[in-house]
Formats: sequence, C-alpha cells, structure tokens
Amino acid sequence: MPAAQRTSIVFTGFMGAGKSGAARAAARALGVEAIDTDAEIERRAGAPVAEIFAREGEREFRRLEAEVVELALAHGGIVAIGGGAVETESVREALRDHLTVLCRVREEVAWERCRGGPRPLAADREEFGRRYVARRPLYEAVARVVLPTGGERIGTAAAPWLDVLRGAPDVRMAWGRTASSEYPVAVGPGACELLGTEGAPAAGAKLFAVADPAALAAGVPAPEVEATIDAAGGEAAKTLASAAAVLDRLAELGVRRDDAVAAIGGGVVGDLAGFCASVYQRGVPVVQVPTTLVAQVDSAIGGKTGVDLPAAKNYVGTYHQPFAVLADPRALDSLPGAELAAGWAEVVKTALIAGGELWERVRAISGTAAARESLPGVVFDCAQTKLSVVAEDERDGGRRAVLNLGHTVGHAIEAASGYERYRHGEAISLGLLAALRLSGRDELREEVGELLAAVGLPTGLDPAVDPAAVIEATGRDKKRSSAGLGFVLVRAPGDIVHGEPVPERELEAAVRELRA
Ligand SMILES: NC(=O)c1ccc[n+]([C@@H]2O[C@H](COP(=O)([O-])OP(=O)(O)OC[C@H]3O[C@@H](n4cnc5c(N)ncnc54)[C@H](O)[C@@H]3O)[C@@H](O)[C@H]2O)c1
Repeated sequence: MPAAQRTSIVFTGFMGAGKSGAARAAARALGVEAIDTDAEIERRAGAPVAEIFAREGEREFRRLEAEVVELALAHGGIVAIGGGAVETESVREALRDHLTVLCRVREEVAWERCRGGPRPLAADREEFGRRYVARRPLYEAVARVVLPTGGERIGTAAAPWLDVLRGAPDVRMAWGRTASSEYPVAVGPGACELLGTEGAPAAGAKLFAVADPAALAAGVPAPEVEATIDAAGGEAAKTLASAAAVLDRLAELGVRRDDAVAAIGGGVVGDLAGFCASVYQRGVPVVQVPTTLVAQVDSAIGGKTGVDLPAAKNYVGTYHQPFAVLADPRALDSLPGAELAAGWAEVVKTALIAGGELWERVRAISGTAAARESLPGVVFDCAQTKLSVVAEDERDGGRRAVLNLGHTVGHAIEAASGYERYRHGEAISLGLLAALRLSGRDELREEVGELLAAVGLPTGLDPAVDPAAVIEATGRDKKRSSAGLGFVLVRAPGDIVHGEPVPERELEAAVRELRA
C-alpha cells in the first residue's frame, strides 16, 4: 500500500468541537468507515467512558485509549480520537505519521455544548477551562489541518481536500468559512500541485491563468492551466483598463461559465484577476495562487477583489471568495528583499490583531535570520487569523474593519504619492505607526517602529510627500461613511477596536509626526 493510503485522517479537538460528526461525514464522502476511539474503548471495556473513568481512574483510561488509538491508526482510514488523547505522549508521537485535523472550538461554545452531559471532564467549569488551556498547545503541535469547528457540513466539504493532503506531507491546510462559501487555504511546498492530484476537487471544467509574468519568469510553483493571460504586478497596473484587457482575453480564449481562473501573482494580480473572475459572465470561480508575502498572508484570503480609480485605491470591486488558496512558500524565494519586507508589514499588522503567540513570535524574529525559515509557519498562522476575522464578518459591516489597521493612513500615503513612491506594505508600515500614535500607545509604537525598521521598512515619510495631501486623501477613504471616518485603534496586541472617531488635529499630528 502506498504511504499516502496508509496515512490515517485523524480528527481531534476539544470536547464539543464536533470532531466525531466531521469524521463520520468525511468518511461517508470518501466511502470508508470512520472509527471513533471512544466508542471502541466502550465496546472493548463493555462500559461507558464515564464509568471507566470513575471505576479505573483517568490514568488507566488514557492507557486503554492509547492502545485503541494506535490500533485505529494502523487502518489508514478515518479516525476520531477522544479530546484528551493528545495528553498522552505516545499518542502525539503516533499522530506524527498521520494527517491530523484539529476541529477548533471556542471555550464558551464547548462548555455550552458539553455541560450537564455524560463527559467526566465536563462536570466542573473551572476544570473544564483548565483542560482547555492545557490542551491547546498540544493540539496545535500535532495538527496539520485546522478547521474552524467540526460537524457534518465541514466534514463533507473538507473530505476531498483531506484525501489529497495525505499525499502532500509538507502542506498544511486552514479552512475559510463565510456566509457565502467554504474553501481551503493550503500552505506549504507542493500546495499548487493539489489541484492536479487525482481526487482533488476541480475548480472548473478548464483552468485559465491570469498571471504576473515576473512571477512566472521566476519559476514560481503554479497549477497546470489551459492558457495564460499576462497581467503585470505593481500598483500602477491595478486599473479598470487592465481589467478590461483581461476580460477581453478571457472572452477571446472562449472561457465559459463552468471554467475557472487561477490568479498567479502578488496582491495586484490577485485583486485584479479575482475581480475579473467575479464579473466575467457574472462570475466564475477563482483559485488564488499568491506569490508574494503580502498576498500569502493577506490579500489572497477573504474574497475582497478590485482595482483602483485615479481618485482612490480599491474604489471598484466585489466580494468573491476563492475556490481555494494555494500558497507555496517556495514562490517567495525569488521575491526581491524589498518586496519581502513589504509583506512583513502585513505580518506585523496581523500579529498585532492576533496578539498572543503569533505576536510574541513575530516580535522575536523580525529582522533575524530565523524569520526566513519561520515563514511557512508565520504565513499559516496569519492566514488563520485573517480567516477567523472574515468568518465573523464577510462583508465588512463590523469586525472585519480591524484588518484595516494602519490602512487608513497607509492608503492615503499611497494615493498622495501617486501609487509610485511606496509599495503597499511600505505605506502600511507608516500607517501602522500613525495608528499606534492615534491609539496613544507610545511604547508599542516605538517597539513596532523597531520591528519594521529591522526589516528595512520606512518609519519616516519621504520629504517629497506632502503631509497635507495625505491628510486630505484620508477623507476619500472608502471606509468613510456619512457618519465620518472611523479609525482602527490598538488597545494592546490582540485587543483592537474599530470605528473610533479621531479628532482632525490628532490625525494631522500623527501624519506630520511621520515627517519628523
Ligand atoms: N484583497 C485584499 O484583501 C488585499 C489585502 C492586502 C493587500 N491588497 C492589495 O495587494 C496589493 C499589493 O500586493 P503585493 O505587495 O503583492 O504587490 P504586487 O502584486 O505588485 O507584487 C509586488 C512585485 O513583486 C513581483 N512579484 C510577484 N511575485 C513574485 C515572485 N514570486 N518573484 C519575484 N517577483 C514577484 C510583482 O511583479 C511586483 O513587481 C495592493 O494593491 C493592495 O491593495 C489586497
């Protein structure tokens, strides 16, 4: 049996995460049996889990559980393991050879689902919380796939991707779920090959690329396509005229409604191709294949597409969630250092939004040699942060606004300098510093300034850019509603607020300070 077929797909996660339902649905979708190790333990012991716990104690239960898990893994099928199995070291060790899928669940949701039930560890709220915190890093350490929560629907949707991931051991997968769609975000060497793998879901009858020639010339990994339409990177190319040219080419190539588009390039090509895909014949699927750091950590995810007007950035656009996002970190090998640095600004932004472990990691590695080798993990974690924000608010009516941290002033700097002086990420670097000043977080502003400077990002505004023009351009930000322009402010890493009014003179001072 080939290694991929011996690899079990193992669902894990805290009590109440829905892992058994997800496993059952995935097994049904793939036409195999699902083994539930708790049910298997009960069958062997001839008693319910709660009784084994009460009679023999947790230690004996874990011993029995480890035995059953190891036997179940040997089948190479689909397995749902008990939430506490990861506490046993030999189980964690055994899971390394398999595809482990973490079904995430928030602590309060898990408690609501489990309280009053038969689970022995869901009797006491405090103990429940303690276990939740203690197990979290154990799940993270073993999981190659992270689903937002389990249940039948997600098990069915994710099943074909999980099946092909068995044969791609270096690829991790997160899952996008919004009101309008669900999609995988695959990160790792070999991610682009998933689409061509037998059994992988097809994006469309035929796949056509809209691709940045610079990325293709650099030999970035990309899926196989019928034909390629060139679309240049660089903000100057993100125009309605470029969109019209791409749409004309799609029509000339005879692309039909049941075909799909692969957007291969940085954020510019991703936004442009995504926009074209969303309007071509009223919409065809788009597969995002991000080849810059900005695109891998941010723009390829979340479904915002669009182009600029001379008046302001992203003034024309749509929401069009991707069919899949396939991010291969090897694409970043050819990225010029300045582009990589620009992407780091979005990494710092995302880490500030996430707080916790991601923020600690990013502040530790910014500008060090460790940053490069940590990139795949950082990309994966940034992707998860963005996915979880978008899951709550696909259409930017509330919480999604936090992703705009640093972007109000950042976009205004881009517009005021004719989209030529700064890369997007460089402008965001300056925008982040302005946002931290407006947040009144002086110490954090200083630290973030150091993190950005450590990778060569600008922390001071070019004297050629007129601060008055920047302030004026913030007035055209499309986030401005009739109620005025709300700002995204930082209370602390992981604690971000949006829609905050800021007095005009404070905004002026924060922008002028960038020139100091
Ligand atoms: N849709 C969203 O949610 C979202 C989020 C963040 C940013 N964005 C948008 O993303 C854009 C910026 O994206 P970007 O920074 O990726 O810019 P970009 O697409 O212009 O790429 C930067 C440069 O890198 C080149 N390039 C791309 N891949 C390469 C590779 N692998 N090797 C060598 N060169 C390569 C491009 O040709 C270009 O010159 C902005 O327009 C911004 O508004 C959108």
